[in-house]
Amino acid sequence: MKFEYAPAPESTAIVDIQSDYNLFIDGKFVPSKGGKRFATMNPANEQVLAKVTQGTAADVDRAVKAATNAYKKTWSKLPGADRGKYLFRIARILQERAREFAVLESMDNGKPIRETRDTDIPLAAAHFFYHAGWADKLEHAGLGANPKAHGVVGQIIPWNFPLLMLAWKIAPALATGNTVVLKPAETTPLTALLFAEVCQQAELPNGVVNIVTGDGATGSALVNHPGIQKIAFTGSTEVGKLIARSVVGTKKALTLELGGKGANIVFEDAPIDETVEGIINGIYFNQGHVCCAGSRLLVQENIKDELIEKLKRRMSMIRVGDPLDKNTDLGAINSKAQLTKIQELAQSGDTEGAERWSPECQLPEKGFWFPPTFFTGVSQSHRIAREEIFGPVLSVITFRTPSEAIEKANNTPYGLSAGIWTDKGSRILWSAQQLKAGVIWANTFNKFDPASPFGGYKESGWGREGGRHGLAAYLKGDM
Ligand code: NAI
Ligand code: MG
Repeated sequence: MKFEYAPAPESTAIVDIQSDYNLFIDGKFVPSKGGKRFATMNPANEQVLAKVTQGTAADVDRAVKAATNAYKKTWSKLPGADRGKYLFRIARILQERAREFAVLESMDNGKPIRETRDTDIPLAAAHFFYHAGWADKLEHAGLGANPKAHGVVGQIIPWNFPLLMLAWKIAPALATGNTVVLKPAETTPLTALLFAEVCQQAELPNGVVNIVTGDGATGSALVNHPGIQKIAFTGSTEVGKLIARSVVGTKKALTLELGGKGANIVFEDAPIDETVEGIINGIYFNQGHVCCAGSRLLVQENIKDELIEKLKRRMSMIRVGDPLDKNTDLGAINSKAQLTKIQELAQSGDTEGAERWSPECQLPEKGFWFPPTFFTGVSQSHRIAREEIFGPVLSVITFRTPSEAIEKANNTPYGLSAGIWTDKGSRILWSAQQLKAGVIWANTFNKFDPASPFGGYKESGWGREGGRHGLAAYLKGDM
């Protein structure tokens, strides 16, 4: 049976997008020193939304000076309880303006409004609420009697969860008494610029948060600025390695949240219908643009056929299309470059002998689209089993024994996430102890909470964000 849905588009009237944006430095929007402008588009229809500034090294310098000044003169002198008040204020404003943020995020990124409305924006507010609570309790966090901020923090974030990654970065930095210069990703800068308005609305002291837009060159200028005491980066492993190299030999502290190739392991006794939902959520949530995606499905051989049949049936119900339609499950791929990367890797799956399957679905003509897809007959050596695709593409691999599952799951240069599906509590504990992954979900997937630390092993990164562990990364003298 095919369900048809009448279109239910969310109105864009609530957002007010300017044609051009300046940089947010020292509490004001200021023009760049010498920087050109570049366009950010809606990847669902290729319409230009606005032009933003390519921040130059001189702009980064100005922002770092503003952050240094704010740190020395105001922020480091405020008691934690007062910092907490600002964070609570920001959290409440994010909630009040949630619809505006959700629509803007969906337009600039291409992700469905259902996800921005129900996941990105509420979680971003939750991060500010959570860290607001910590601001006056840092001496009780188990980090010594008088933990100290680093000073000025440089933060670089990706395009897959633009506002949420901003919140993951800015909330703990401010709660622990640091000031920040943040660079959003070049394809998704608009919610960070709207967040700058929220800082003004919250009357956050000038210079505590500075937002400098731009590309990798702007990011690199930030990483290499001598006035920065700590760098926090989320993005590709490749750029993470570059940053690690440039920070080595300096006194800068560093945290890196990088790529992943998460194993979602399904044992023969798993509750099958719930598991299918978990697989869908694990790989098709956010178009698969998720570092902790369950992109490798490890399924016990004797239940593979039944699972694949149910997965196909469920995938046929995924609605792909207009991100602003409230019925949409899978939105647009964030950029042409990302679409090309997904296509190329999927192609390698075909040529290396795996078997591709997608449900029938009509993709819009304009914009960047890729259907929900899985490959069976995947072996460990295939590129689609080893490389991060960062798209709605699942690689299905089988195993016969629990120890073979663990061995295959850990056979990756990454170590960010894993999932375990089984009826047995003892098997969950046994598996979790042996999996080399920073986050392990049991009988669920892609669940996030600000109180829970997040981060990876091996090439998935250094350090943790969120929870008490995340505070340590923003304070001197890590645990
Ligand atoms: P990227 O790592 O190039 O971009 C992430 C951020 O780093 C952006 O703000 C970018 O402007 C900045 N950046 C780029 N070069 C820099 C440099 N040399 N110094 C400082 N900052 C720099 O990721 P990109 O190109 O957008 O995506 C490529 C692939 O990376 C994706 O296909 C995906 O596999 C992976 N990726 C993983 C993410 C994750 O959350 N783990 C997020 C984004 C991408
Ligand atoms: Mg965009």
